[in-house]
Amino acid sequence: MTGPGRRLPALFQAVTGLAGRRERRGGGVLPSPNIWNWPDLYEVENRAQDPDGVLWDALRAARDWSGADVVDVGCGAGFHLPVFARSAARVVGVEPHPPLAAAARQRVRDLPAVTVHEAGAQRLPLPDAAVDLVHARTAYFFGPGCEPGLVEADRVLRPGGTLAVVDLDATRHSYGRWMRADLPRYDPLAAERFFVERGFSCQRFDVDWRFDDRRSLESVLGIEFSPEIAARAAAEVPGLSFRVGYRVHVRHKPRGPVLPNGATARDDPR
Ligand SMILES: C[S@@+](CC[C@H](N)C(=O)[O-])C[C@H]1O[C@@H](n2cnc3c(N)ncnc32)[C@H](O)[C@@H]1O
Repeated sequence: MTGPGRRLPALFQAVTGLAGRRERRGGGVLPSPNIWNWPDLYEVENRAQDPDGVLWDALRAARDWSGADVVDVGCGAGFHLPVFARSAARVVGVEPHPPLAAAARQRVRDLPAVTVHEAGAQRLPLPDAAVDLVHARTAYFFGPGCEPGLVEADRVLRPGGTLAVVDLDATRHSYGRWMRADLPRYDPLAAERFFVERGFSCQRFDVDWRFDDRRSLESVLGIEFSPEIAARAAAEVPGLSFRVGYRVHVRHKPRGPVLPNGATARDDPR
């Protein structure tokens, strides 16, 4: 195991009471130890994720952002902003952790269509009906507890706009088993139900994580899991890649009036 020794897996803090307590203290910011503590390794992780563009294809099928206005909520160091910027009219990155917001700003400094704001999902620095796509990837929208962010996403979306939440699927593949081992109280099906009950579709995808070398692979496992599980995972993976399950939750904002629970968001703008 070449990854850094660590204490609690990232998702553990996000989905347990520990995260809730810290969230209240920290003004609604969910701790993300992986990217907060090891931004360079998280960059390696982002580069390794989805080399075949499966998730990008799924997002494009849900909502093509060519010529559209996009906000990436919990954008971290802004890894995905340039991809949206290739065809979007305007891209806004929103990230509450100041060093990451600064890193995202630095990344997009030569992209005039992209701006980055230091803010959280619960209070987006955008006017009503300002964007066509709200995207969040493994950030804030983990199920119960993210209701304020859902309301806020609906507020900033134009009628017919789309909220797309990309998250890891802990029900499948070895990666899901490692997650569940670290998170015995996390119920991935309850998280999925949460979105379905609020009018989201849910699609599952198999995505490879492919690394250049063993050291990178083991280091990334080391920032995602407890030392015990990371060591077990490294021992189980023979080569330079493994498969990870993802869920993509999508909801389109109705073109007509929105009901208070948002559950009628069914019309498809495509
Ligand atoms: C696992 S990282 C993913 C970052 C980025 N989406 C990516 O894929 O590279 C989760 C991010 O969510 C951010 N975050 C934490 N609390 C948040 C909140 N309340 N609203 C929006 N983002 C939040 C964290 O600071 C962190 O940057």
